[in-house]
Amino acid sequence: MKNVLVIGSTGQIGSELTMELRKRYSGNIVAGHIPGAEPKGELLETGPSAVVDITNREQIGEVVSRYQVDTIYNLAALLSAVAEAKPQLAWKIGVDGLMNVLEVAREKKCAVFTPSSIGVFGENTPKDKTPQDTICHPRTMYGVTKVSGELLSDYYHLRYGVDTRSVRFPGLISYVTPPGGGTTDYAVDIYYAAVQEKVFECPIAAGTFMDMMYMPDALHAAIQLMEADPARLKHRNSFNIASMSFAPEIIYHKIKEKLPDFRMVYNVDPLRQAIAESWPNSLDDSCAHEEWDWNPVYDLDAMTRDMLDKLGKRMGKSTASLFAHQH
Ligand SMILES: NC(=O)c1ccc[n+]([C@@H]2O[C@H](COP(=O)([O-])OP(=O)(O)OC[C@H]3O[C@@H](n4cnc5c(N)ncnc54)[C@H](O)[C@@H]3O)[C@@H](O)[C@H]2O)c1
Repeated sequence: MKNVLVIGSTGQIGSELTMELRKRYSGNIVAGHIPGAEPKGELLETGPSAVVDITNREQIGEVVSRYQVDTIYNLAALLSAVAEAKPQLAWKIGVDGLMNVLEVAREKKCAVFTPSSIGVFGENTPKDKTPQDTICHPRTMYGVTKVSGELLSDYYHLRYGVDTRSVRFPGLISYVTPPGGGTTDYAVDIYYAAVQEKVFECPIAAGTFMDMMYMPDALHAAIQLMEADPARLKHRNSFNIASMSFAPEIIYHKIKEKLPDFRMVYNVDPLRQAIAESWPNSLDDSCAHEEWDWNPVYDLDAMTRDMLDKLGKRMGKSTASLFAHQH
């Protein structure tokens, strides 16, 4: 039996990860949330929830004790574009908040998963097949908090033996909960526009490659890494993982293969474009393959079929009816 606390459970990843953990484990899977971001629907109905503000160490400790939590998935953060608008708050949540989680974990002997990001890389990182161990010198506050978080998590493992583990997520694509203000959000928004039969205004310029991943593979990565045999782990915070890399025109043409009438125009957002250009084109994830058998399932084609099908159904349009409108 496992008792898990998910901090930030109502966000893009948390809303699906919490449900996946509840399917898998029979113990308490607690949906931690802040006031104003309450769980709803099945997330609320299928298990316990509790107010957990990551900036409040006592509150985290109290919930961990109440539910005898042994594993914390710490998903609280401000994403890249939002963190640039509120850098001090991004640090408070991403780094001071993580320190609170690690202190509680040290005291109460919990394992901790805290996602990192492709945002740890910067201008002087090798851009193609970016190695696992390489230059991490970002210029964004998001990247600064993520590099600090990786170092702090490794420190708590080496110094205090806390079982900290992490992956560097690329841009995540899902049809359940909208993304929270990241640089890769366009790759979700484009599917919504396609299904709603709208012209998509792309905020990222043609030719800008970034790593992306379909949510089922991301959830699997987080859970699989936390279940991995620690004796095999040479790295901990944080593993490169990858499944696909594309630029806007590539995802556009992939959607057009299924919906030929779909149209995209460019309206580049300078902030997001600058962040995107500082990130790698593609990652080398061989360490994750070797140390815990990471193996993604979805490529761009499989993801596009599933996204159009699932989003279409959610919006009351079957794929058949969507395709029937096309000329
Ligand atoms: N979604 C992606 O594409 C992506 C890519 C790389 C890394 N990540 C990382 O994964 C993690 C989760 O990302 P997400 O996409 O679900 O983000 P999100 O913005 O959708 O969700 C973040 C959650 O944190 C919560 N939160 C905000 N302030 C808080 C506080 N003070 N205390 C507790 N919770 C608070 C929010 O209510 C929200 O539920 C983050 O660390 C993010 O950096 C995400």
